[in-house]
Amino acid sequence: MHRQRVLEPGEEPPQYVIAGHEPQNLTAFRQAERLYRGKKPVDLSTAIDFTRDSADPRVFVAGRYRVTDPWCGSVVEQDIYGIHGHEGFLYIPSAIPIASQVLLATRCFSTYINPPNVTNLNAHYDFTPHFHGYLDAYRIGSLQLMRKADGQSIVLNQESDVESLIRKIRWATLGFHYNWTSKQYNFDNSPNPFPPDLAVYCQTISTGAGFEFCPEAGIINYYQPGDSLTGHVDRSERNMSVPLLSLSLGLSAIFLIGGAGRNDPVSAVIVRSGDVSLLSGPSRHFYHGVPRVLEGTFPDAIFGSKVALLRNSRININVRQVN
Ligand code: OGA
Ligand code: MN
Repeated sequence: MHRQRVLEPGEEPPQYVIAGHEPQNLTAFRQAERLYRGKKPVDLSTAIDFTRDSADPRVFVAGRYRVTDPWCGSVVEQDIYGIHGHEGFLYIPSAIPIASQVLLATRCFSTYINPPNVTNLNAHYDFTPHFHGYLDAYRIGSLQLMRKADGQSIVLNQESDVESLIRKIRWATLGFHYNWTSKQYNFDNSPNPFPPDLAVYCQTISTGAGFEFCPEAGIINYYQPGDSLTGHVDRSERNMSVPLLSLSLGLSAIFLIGGAGRNDPVSAVIVRSGDVSLLSGPSRHFYHGVPRVLEGTFPDAIFGSKVALLRNSRININVRQVN
Protein backbone atom coordinates (compact mmCIF):
# COMPACT_ATOMS: atom_id res chain seq x y z
CA MET A 1 0.00 0.00 0.00
CA HIS A 2 1.20 3.43 -0.82
CA ARG A 3 0.31 5.48 2.20
CA GLN A 4 -1.10 4.33 5.47
CA ARG A 5 -4.03 6.13 6.90
CA VAL A 6 -5.60 6.06 10.33
CA LEU A 7 -9.13 4.72 10.19
CA GLU A 8 -11.83 7.28 10.62
CA PRO A 9 -14.90 6.62 12.77
CA GLY A 10 -17.12 4.28 10.78
CA GLU A 11 -14.40 3.52 8.25
CA GLU A 12 -13.93 -0.09 7.24
CA PRO A 13 -10.58 -1.72 7.96
CA PRO A 14 -8.66 -3.05 4.95
CA GLN A 15 -10.01 -6.37 3.75
CA TYR A 16 -7.68 -9.32 3.48
CA VAL A 17 -9.37 -11.64 1.09
CA ILE A 18 -8.84 -15.37 0.79
CA ALA A 19 -9.65 -16.66 -2.70
CA GLY A 20 -13.16 -18.05 -2.77
CA HIS A 21 -14.16 -16.15 0.37
CA GLU A 22 -14.74 -12.70 -1.05
CA PRO A 23 -16.91 -10.57 1.23
CA GLN A 24 -20.18 -9.53 -0.33
CA ASN A 25 -20.85 -6.32 1.54
CA LEU A 26 -18.21 -4.02 0.06
CA THR A 27 -18.97 -0.33 -0.24
CA ALA A 28 -19.31 1.12 -3.72
CA PHE A 29 -15.94 2.80 -3.33
CA ARG A 30 -14.18 -0.40 -2.33
CA GLN A 31 -15.78 -2.29 -5.18
CA ALA A 32 -14.44 0.27 -7.60
CA GLU A 33 -10.99 -0.01 -6.04
CA ARG A 34 -11.16 -3.78 -6.41
CA LEU A 35 -11.82 -3.41 -10.10
CA TYR A 36 -8.52 -1.63 -10.66
CA ARG A 37 -6.22 -2.72 -7.87
CA GLY A 38 -3.61 -5.43 -8.07
CA LYS A 39 -1.51 -6.85 -10.84
CA LYS A 40 -4.25 -8.29 -13.04
CA PRO A 41 -4.60 -6.80 -16.54
CA VAL A 42 -6.48 -3.56 -16.23
CA ASP A 43 -9.74 -2.96 -18.09
CA LEU A 44 -9.94 0.71 -19.03
CA SER A 45 -13.09 0.43 -21.12
CA THR A 46 -15.42 2.05 -18.58
CA ALA A 47 -12.99 4.68 -17.27
CA ILE A 48 -13.53 8.28 -18.35
CA ASP A 49 -10.82 9.32 -20.79
CA PHE A 50 -10.88 13.04 -21.48
CA THR A 51 -8.57 12.65 -24.48
CA ARG A 52 -10.73 10.04 -26.15
CA ASP A 53 -14.22 11.30 -26.38
CA SER A 54 -15.53 14.64 -25.23
CA ALA A 55 -19.00 13.38 -26.25
CA ASP A 56 -19.00 10.96 -23.30
CA PRO A 57 -22.49 11.52 -21.79
CA ARG A 58 -21.04 11.29 -18.29
CA VAL A 59 -19.01 14.47 -18.74
CA PHE A 60 -19.82 18.09 -19.51
CA VAL A 61 -17.89 21.24 -20.30
CA ALA A 62 -17.94 23.40 -17.17
CA GLY A 63 -15.86 26.28 -18.47
CA ARG A 64 -12.87 27.37 -20.49
CA TYR A 65 -9.29 27.56 -19.28
CA ARG A 66 -7.06 30.21 -20.91
CA VAL A 67 -3.73 30.70 -19.24
CA THR A 68 -0.25 31.89 -20.14
CA ASP A 69 2.00 29.39 -18.42
CA PRO A 70 4.06 31.36 -15.88
CA TRP A 71 7.15 29.22 -16.34
CA CYS A 72 7.44 28.51 -20.07
CA GLY A 73 5.24 31.25 -21.51
CA SER A 74 3.08 28.92 -23.64
CA VAL A 75 -0.58 29.79 -23.93
CA VAL A 76 -2.81 26.94 -22.81
CA GLU A 77 -6.43 26.82 -23.96
CA GLN A 78 -8.52 23.93 -22.78
CA ASP A 79 -12.05 23.04 -21.85
CA ILE A 80 -12.66 22.56 -18.15
CA TYR A 81 -14.69 19.40 -17.63
CA GLY A 82 -17.04 18.24 -14.93
CA ILE A 83 -18.55 14.80 -14.36
CA HIS A 84 -22.28 14.44 -13.69
CA GLY A 85 -22.93 13.28 -10.15
CA HIS A 86 -19.65 14.64 -8.73
CA GLU A 87 -20.52 18.27 -8.18
CA GLY A 88 -17.50 20.56 -8.01
CA PHE A 89 -14.95 18.08 -9.32
CA LEU A 90 -13.20 19.82 -12.22
CA TYR A 91 -10.75 18.41 -14.70
CA ILE A 92 -8.39 20.23 -17.07
CA PRO A 93 -6.59 17.83 -19.42
CA SER A 94 -3.11 18.91 -20.59
CA ALA A 95 -3.15 22.05 -18.46
CA ILE A 96 0.64 21.91 -17.95
CA PRO A 97 2.84 22.30 -21.04
CA ILE A 98 5.64 19.74 -21.45
CA ALA A 99 8.41 22.24 -20.63
CA SER A 100 6.77 23.05 -17.30
CA GLN A 101 6.10 19.37 -16.59
CA VAL A 102 9.84 18.78 -16.91
CA LEU A 103 10.58 21.72 -14.61
CA LEU A 104 8.03 20.61 -12.03
CA ALA A 105 9.30 17.03 -12.09
CA THR A 106 12.89 18.19 -11.71
CA ARG A 107 11.95 20.29 -8.70
CA CYS A 108 10.09 17.37 -7.18
CA PHE A 109 13.50 15.67 -7.07
CA SER A 110 15.41 18.75 -5.97
CA THR A 111 14.25 21.91 -4.23
CA TYR A 112 10.91 20.50 -3.07
CA ILE A 113 12.45 17.48 -1.31
CA ASN A 114 15.42 19.25 0.23
CA PRO A 115 15.36 20.45 3.84
CA PRO A 116 13.50 22.09 5.48
CA ASN A 117 10.82 20.24 3.55
CA VAL A 118 10.18 16.81 5.00
CA THR A 119 10.03 13.47 3.20
CA ASN A 120 9.47 9.92 4.45
CA LEU A 121 13.28 9.49 4.43
CA ASN A 122 13.64 12.04 7.25
CA ALA A 123 12.39 9.42 9.72
CA HIS A 124 15.49 7.35 8.96
CA TYR A 125 18.29 9.78 8.12
CA ASP A 126 19.79 13.05 9.25
CA PHE A 127 21.53 15.29 6.79
CA THR A 128 25.20 16.09 7.21
CA PRO A 129 26.63 19.55 6.50
CA HIS A 130 27.88 18.02 3.22
CA PHE A 131 24.34 17.65 1.97
CA HIS A 132 23.68 20.04 -0.88
CA GLY A 133 20.47 18.57 -2.16
CA TYR A 134 19.30 15.25 -3.54
CA LEU A 135 19.58 16.17 -7.18
CA ASP A 136 23.18 17.36 -6.76
CA ALA A 137 23.98 14.16 -4.91
CA TYR A 138 22.43 12.22 -7.74
CA ARG A 139 24.41 14.16 -10.34
CA ILE A 140 27.75 13.69 -8.61
CA GLY A 141 26.88 10.14 -7.59
CA SER A 142 27.66 10.60 -3.92
CA LEU A 143 25.50 11.09 -0.87
CA GLN A 144 26.45 11.22 2.80
CA LEU A 145 23.78 10.75 5.46
CA MET A 146 23.57 9.86 9.15
CA ARG A 147 21.42 6.89 10.00
CA LYS A 148 19.04 7.84 12.81
CA ALA A 149 18.93 4.31 14.25
CA ASP A 150 22.62 4.18 15.24
CA GLY A 151 24.02 7.63 14.45
CA GLN A 152 26.35 6.08 11.88
CA SER A 153 27.41 8.07 8.89
CA ILE A 154 26.83 6.30 5.61
CA VAL A 155 28.28 7.33 2.27
CA LEU A 156 26.66 6.24 -0.95
CA ASN A 157 29.30 6.46 -3.65
CA GLN A 158 27.64 4.51 -6.39
CA GLU A 159 25.35 6.46 -8.66
CA SER A 160 22.94 3.53 -8.59
CA ASP A 161 22.87 3.52 -4.75
CA VAL A 162 22.10 7.24 -4.65
CA GLU A 163 19.40 6.70 -7.22
CA SER A 164 17.81 3.83 -5.33
CA LEU A 165 17.73 5.84 -2.11
CA ILE A 166 16.06 8.80 -3.82
CA ARG A 167 13.58 6.40 -5.38
CA LYS A 168 12.51 5.41 -1.86
CA ILE A 169 10.94 8.84 -1.47
CA ARG A 170 7.21 8.25 -1.25
CA TRP A 171 6.03 11.64 -0.10
CA ALA A 172 7.25 15.13 0.68
CA THR A 173 5.34 17.80 2.55
CA LEU A 174 5.50 21.49 1.75
CA GLY A 175 4.45 24.45 3.89
CA PHE A 176 2.51 23.56 7.04
CA HIS A 177 3.97 20.58 8.91
CA TYR A 178 1.70 17.58 8.57
CA ASN A 179 1.54 14.59 10.86
CA TRP A 180 0.49 11.51 8.88
CA THR A 181 -0.51 9.58 11.98
CA SER A 182 -2.72 12.14 13.65
CA LYS A 183 -3.75 13.53 10.23
CA GLN A 184 -3.30 17.01 11.60
CA TYR A 185 -1.37 20.05 10.64
CA ASN A 186 0.88 21.46 13.30
CA PHE A 187 -0.40 25.01 13.58
CA ASP A 188 1.95 25.87 16.46
CA ASN A 189 5.24 25.45 14.65
CA SER A 190 5.74 28.10 12.03
CA PRO A 191 5.26 26.44 8.65
CA ASN A 192 8.06 26.02 6.14
CA PRO A 193 7.77 28.61 3.41
CA PHE A 194 5.69 27.19 0.58
CA PRO A 195 7.99 27.10 -2.50
CA PRO A 196 7.36 30.54 -4.04
CA ASP A 197 7.71 29.33 -7.64
CA LEU A 198 5.15 26.58 -7.06
CA ALA A 199 2.82 28.99 -5.27
CA VAL A 200 2.80 31.27 -8.33
CA TYR A 201 2.30 28.31 -10.61
CA CYS A 202 -0.64 26.96 -8.61
CA GLN A 203 -2.22 30.36 -8.24
CA THR A 204 -2.08 30.91 -11.99
CA ILE A 205 -3.79 27.56 -12.56
CA SER A 206 -6.50 28.15 -9.99
CA THR A 207 -7.20 31.65 -11.29
CA GLY A 208 -7.49 30.15 -14.79
CA ALA A 209 -10.00 27.69 -13.39
CA GLY A 210 -11.94 30.52 -11.74
CA PHE A 211 -10.86 30.33 -8.11
CA GLU A 212 -8.96 32.48 -5.69
CA PHE A 213 -6.56 30.27 -3.86
CA CYS A 214 -3.65 30.69 -1.48
CA PRO A 215 -1.30 27.66 -1.57
CA GLU A 216 -0.25 27.00 2.04
CA ALA A 217 0.42 23.27 2.23
CA GLY A 218 1.35 20.65 -0.27
CA ILE A 219 1.88 16.92 -0.41
CA ILE A 220 3.93 15.44 -3.19
CA ASN A 221 3.13 11.78 -3.75
CA TYR A 222 5.63 9.56 -5.58
CA TYR A 223 4.07 6.41 -7.00
CA GLN A 224 5.65 3.46 -8.73
CA PRO A 225 3.72 0.78 -10.59
CA GLY A 226 1.94 -1.30 -7.96
CA ASP A 227 1.49 1.63 -5.56
CA SER A 228 -1.96 2.94 -4.75
CA LEU A 229 -3.64 5.50 -2.56
CA THR A 230 -6.66 4.23 -0.65
CA GLY A 231 -9.95 6.09 -0.84
CA HIS A 232 -10.14 9.01 1.57
CA VAL A 233 -11.43 12.52 2.15
CA ASP A 234 -8.90 15.27 2.86
CA ARG A 235 -10.44 16.96 5.88
CA SER A 236 -7.47 18.25 7.85
CA GLU A 237 -7.60 21.75 6.41
CA ARG A 238 -9.34 24.38 8.55
CA ASN A 239 -10.87 25.96 5.47
CA MET A 240 -12.77 23.41 3.41
CA SER A 241 -14.48 25.97 1.18
CA VAL A 242 -11.40 26.52 -0.99
CA PRO A 243 -10.58 23.99 -3.71
CA LEU A 244 -7.82 21.43 -3.47
CA LEU A 245 -5.53 21.46 -6.50
CA SER A 246 -3.92 18.34 -7.93
CA LEU A 247 -1.19 18.21 -10.61
CA SER A 248 -0.16 14.93 -12.25
CA LEU A 249 3.22 14.09 -13.81
CA GLY A 250 4.77 10.98 -15.31
CA LEU A 251 2.90 7.70 -15.60
CA SER A 252 -0.85 7.76 -16.12
CA ALA A 253 -3.11 6.43 -13.38
CA ILE A 254 -6.71 5.64 -12.51
CA PHE A 255 -8.27 8.25 -10.24
CA LEU A 256 -11.54 7.40 -8.50
CA ILE A 257 -13.97 10.12 -7.50
CA GLY A 258 -16.99 9.24 -5.39
CA GLY A 259 -19.27 11.24 -3.17
CA ALA A 260 -19.53 12.24 0.49
CA GLY A 261 -20.45 8.66 1.45
CA ARG A 262 -18.61 5.48 0.61
CA ASN A 263 -21.68 4.07 -1.13
CA ASP A 264 -22.21 7.02 -3.44
CA PRO A 265 -21.61 6.39 -7.15
CA VAL A 266 -17.95 6.27 -8.14
CA SER A 267 -16.38 7.32 -11.45
CA ALA A 268 -12.97 6.27 -12.71
CA VAL A 269 -10.88 8.79 -14.65
CA ILE A 270 -7.65 8.17 -16.55
CA VAL A 271 -5.25 10.89 -15.36
CA ARG A 272 -2.23 11.71 -17.45
CA SER A 273 0.95 13.69 -17.18
CA GLY A 274 0.13 17.40 -17.35
CA ASP A 275 -3.50 17.04 -16.26
CA VAL A 276 -4.87 19.14 -13.41
CA SER A 277 -7.91 18.47 -11.26
CA LEU A 278 -9.69 20.49 -8.63
CA LEU A 279 -11.88 19.33 -5.78
CA SER A 280 -14.05 22.38 -5.38
CA GLY A 281 -17.40 23.04 -3.69
CA PRO A 282 -19.21 19.87 -2.54
CA SER A 283 -16.51 17.60 -4.04
CA ARG A 284 -14.02 18.93 -1.49
CA HIS A 285 -15.77 16.47 0.88
CA PHE A 286 -15.85 13.55 -1.57
CA TYR A 287 -13.99 10.27 -1.33
CA HIS A 288 -11.25 9.85 -3.88
CA GLY A 289 -8.19 7.66 -4.41
CA VAL A 290 -5.72 6.19 -6.86
CA PRO A 291 -6.12 2.40 -7.11
CA ARG A 292 -3.77 1.90 -10.04
CA VAL A 293 -0.74 3.38 -11.72
CA LEU A 294 -0.66 2.45 -15.40
CA GLU A 295 2.63 0.91 -16.45
CA GLY A 296 4.15 1.69 -19.81
CA THR A 297 2.45 5.07 -20.14
CA PHE A 298 5.43 7.30 -19.43
CA PRO A 299 5.28 10.23 -21.87
CA ASP A 300 8.15 10.25 -24.38
CA ALA A 301 8.52 14.01 -24.17
CA ILE A 302 9.44 13.87 -20.48
CA PHE A 303 11.32 10.64 -20.90
CA GLY A 304 13.71 12.53 -23.14
CA SER A 305 14.43 14.96 -20.32
CA LYS A 306 17.32 14.63 -17.92
CA VAL A 307 15.14 13.52 -15.03
CA ALA A 308 15.96 9.84 -15.22
CA LEU A 309 14.71 9.61 -11.63
CA LEU A 310 11.21 10.15 -12.89
CA ARG A 311 11.47 7.06 -15.06
CA ASN A 312 8.62 4.70 -14.43
CA SER A 313 6.99 6.77 -11.72
CA ARG A 314 4.04 9.04 -11.21
CA ILE A 315 4.19 12.25 -9.25
CA ASN A 316 1.16 13.97 -7.85
CA ILE A 317 1.48 17.48 -6.44
CA ASN A 318 -1.47 18.03 -4.13
CA VAL A 319 -1.85 21.60 -2.97
CA ARG A 320 -4.16 22.99 -0.31
CA GLN A 321 -5.12 26.23 1.31
CA VAL A 322 -5.25 25.52 5.03
CA ASN A 323 -6.73 28.67 6.55
C1 OGA B 1 -3.84 13.15 -1.93
C2 OGA B 1 -4.49 12.65 -3.16
C3 OGA B 1 -4.38 12.08 -5.50
C4 OGA B 1 -3.43 11.68 -6.59
O1 OGA B 1 -2.60 13.29 -1.92
O2 OGA B 1 -4.55 13.42 -0.95
O3 OGA B 1 -5.68 12.47 -3.15
O4 OGA B 1 -3.80 11.85 -7.75
N1 OGA B 1 -3.75 12.42 -4.29
O5 OGA B 1 -2.33 11.21 -6.29
MN1 MN C 1 -6.65 13.36 -1.39
